[in-house]
Amino acid sequence: MEAALPREHYVDSQMFARERDMLRHEWTCLGRLDELGLTGPDRVAVLDFHSESILVTRDASGLHALGNVCRHRGSQLMPADSPPCGAKAIRCPYHSWTYALDGSLMHAPHADDIDPADFALTSLAADTWGGWLWVAESPRTTLLEQLGPVPERIRRYPLADLRLGLRFEYDVQANWKVIAENYNECYHCGPVHPELSRLVPAFASGGKDIPWEDGVPHREGAWTFTMSGTTDRAPFPDLDEHERVKHKGELVYPNLMLSLSAEHVAAYTLTPLAIDRTHIVCDLLFHPTETAKATFDPSDAGDLWDLVNRQDWAICESVQRGMSSRYFQGGWYAPMEDDSLDIRRWLLSRLG
Ligand code: FES
Ligand SMILES: [Fe+2]
Repeated sequence: MEAALPREHYVDSQMFARERDMLRHEWTCLGRLDELGLTGPDRVAVLDFHSESILVTRDASGLHALGNVCRHRGSQLMPADSPPCGAKAIRCPYHSWTYALDGSLMHAPHADDIDPADFALTSLAADTWGGWLWVAESPRTTLLEQLGPVPERIRRYPLADLRLGLRFEYDVQANWKVIAENYNECYHCGPVHPELSRLVPAFASGGKDIPWEDGVPHREGAWTFTMSGTTDRAPFPDLDEHERVKHKGELVYPNLMLSLSAEHVAAYTLTPLAIDRTHIVCDLLFHPTETAKATFDPSDAGDLWDLVNRQDWAICESVQRGMSSRYFQGGWYAPMEDDSLDIRRWLLSRLG
């Protein structure tokens, strides 16, 4: 057995602050571009980026991520709860300094002596992959470098084209790494997910030796993640013969978890809020030809996912409560949890 991360990574608020400073330099998934209203030009969305309010804009030259802070005397430019909107410029509510959507200062009333080039908004990096918005502060790599082998492994799933069919949101009283580690192992599937284990018998035995690269087989007669294991929806058009009947999963560090069925994708975006609290958005994404149908009804997939999600979050909250005990010294990964070792490597190499 291998030792898990030391206890303080799950229960110490100072460690959370240190980790958050590190995470800001990682490409972080902030949601679907279409749901954030950022697919067309002249748009602004106000978003949370690791506890900082930022503006994400789109103009004719593309996407921009900017600090939501005026360069004059520091007023917030837009309230953090503003809905996405159309805009040609961003005007500070205090003294009307006005910025273009790329963050450059256009106009500062009665301040002709300043050089606008010295007063642009703080700029972060913004990019897209798979239909999601990604933001990082002075990233060490490109987004594609950070994504590594993931885009190639799931290239036949038309991620960028998919549409939101159903969304679940959860406020989970657990550290984000407890949730990611739980996602990375199926040792718990037998005890925690009886319904899912009936759909995917390999999960019941702990998911050992599951061929994740080829996809995970379902029980006889089932081919997708719904309550019945089937659905009227068609598989995505370009999948190979395995993908049309099997299931794939990816954990895209630091905060996107993907579960890929043949005809829908469950995408989880994690937002760490505190050492012991994580907001989770679970989007069920479908092919646009399916969502456009008058008969479209994602509840067969939604019923299963919401059930499995609640089982996962309840056990993650139990882990968080246990880890907070003075009697918890540190965890261990059983051989079946080898993939969870990954998070130890990923995190410690970045925290130094
Ligand atoms: S603080 Fe924004 S214009 Fe003065
Ligand atoms: Fe689970």
